[in-house]
Amino acid sequence: MAKDVIIACDFESAEETFKFLDNFTGRKPYVKIGMELYYAEGPAIVKEIKKRGHKIFLDLKLHDIPTTVKKAMAVLSKLDVDMTNVHAAGTVPMMEAAIEGLTKPDGTRNTMLIAVTQLTSTTEEVMQEDLLIEKPLPEVVMHYAANAKKAGLDGVVCSPLEAGVVHDKCGAEFLTVTPGVRFAGADAQDQKRITTPEDARLRGSDYIVVGRPITKAEDPQAAYERCIKEFLGE
Ligand code: C5P
Repeated sequence: MAKDVIIACDFESAEETFKFLDNFTGRKPYVKIGMELYYAEGPAIVKEIKKRGHKIFLDLKLHDIPTTVKKAMAVLSKLDVDMTNVHAAGTVPMMEAAIEGLTKPDGTRNTMLIAVTQLTSTTEEVMQEDLLIEKPLPEVVMHYAANAKKAGLDGVVCSPLEAGVVHDKCGAEFLTVTPGVRFAGADAQDQKRITTPEDARLRGSDYIVVGRPITKAEDPQAAYERCIKEFLGE
């Protein structure tokens, strides 16, 4: 399976995004489009980035009643992005509905579907006090991952710290897509459960999602190449 570095393009506008992407020569980065950019620019931004030859992870984290998620996914399926996601907290029936929605009338599905377990900004303390989830965080992450697998999803978003145990429980083929990546010695910002790109590789992560360490770098191309080198060992 092809491992890759996905750049989180958390920008406000298409203009800012293309200004950023225009910096890159050579390898076309895999791009994550999140809520901020998608809500600002709509499907046009997805089509334009795809047209430029980038792979796309559309990170909209759907979480609603199964029927609504199924219908929303049916609309998103037409964009033919490479990867999209839902919250595992939406339950197994919701995730099954999401798969149904993404599946085209001819039975094919072009978009990988992954589930968010617990956001990497959530600590066990916050989970227990805010959400009243009393179980230990790793147990919750594993339970959500098992639910995602049961529903037929391709993998989960989790911290790189959890990638190994997710593979142990759900199998080597079950994808781990991991944000919460920082270069050695860098500021963690609002991320809590972080590793370096190299450590993410050693822990078995399949895709790392890296935002600010690349988008806010003085030289984004150099930061991206460093990520590729450390994560892929190239
Ligand atoms: O800038 P930074 O590297 O922290 O960006 C991480 C990206 O991954 C952001 O776009 C954030 O929304 C996303 N993400 C996350 N934790 C999750 C799921 C997605 O940080 N569990």
